[in-house]
Amino acid sequence: MKKAVISSILLLATSSFASTTMCFKESHSSMATIESIALDGGECAGKYSINDMKAKGWSVDDIKITQTPKGMSFIYILKSPDHAKIAPMVAGGAVAGGSISQEQMEANIMAKLEAKKVAEEKAKVEQEIKEAKIDAQGIYTNQCQNCHGAKGEVRKGNSKLKDLTIEQMEEALKDYKLGVGEKASSVYGPSHINFLNDKTIKGIKAYLDSIQ
Ligand code: HEC
Repeated sequence: MKKAVISSILLLATSSFASTTMCFKESHSSMATIESIALDGGECAGKYSINDMKAKGWSVDDIKITQTPKGMSFIYILKSPDHAKIAPMVAGGAVAGGSISQEQMEANIMAKLEAKKVAEEKAKVEQEIKEAKIDAQGIYTNQCQNCHGAKGEVRKGNSKLKDLTIEQMEEALKDYKLGVGEKASSVYGPSHINFLNDKTIKGIKAYLDSIQ
């Protein structure tokens, strides 16, 4: 998707005398309202819609629409035929007269979209860990701590749960499930199989780490 957007933008190498700005809206669901909602980036700066921009004398030079999982993303290239009439509206925005190049604007927008995506993914992972921990805390206190101790501090077999790395924990629990090695004949097998999946094991590890 990134490539497609870049190539379409590069095709627009318009006259360097006209001022150009690039505004965008991510994950918008309706074509009907896109012209009247405030756009991000460039001279739109989260404040002005396409309609506002037209009223200020800008015209739409190109539109790039891409489908995303949450809706459509719109990138508008706007041009003012006579930039002298339009004073720079926003400090830090693309300044009329082309002191920020087309490539620079494009890079700025890409960086913004990318940063937003990264932040969203990070938030999602954090949320998953949080949920796994709650779920795992319940399982740990109900199903494990009698034997392993409230903080995983009781020695069982050769180790204390609190000292195991996530890899060691996963490996040991997998052995119960697969019936491998000394774990194969353990009478404790069921306690180690019944309540666990990959997410819970990670959650239990995170929970134990959080209470040490
Ligand atoms: C009835 C007591 C009991 C319960 C309940 C229990 N364990 Fe254990 N656990 C043991 C014993 C005893 C061992 C030592 C090895 C063996 O005999 O299987 C062990 C071993 C382990 C090991 C492997 C340690 C190693 O170094 O190989 C892990 C990991 C573990 N338990 C995690 C858990 C988790 C997570 C739970 C809760 C879902 C749990 N256990 C519930 C008694 C228990």
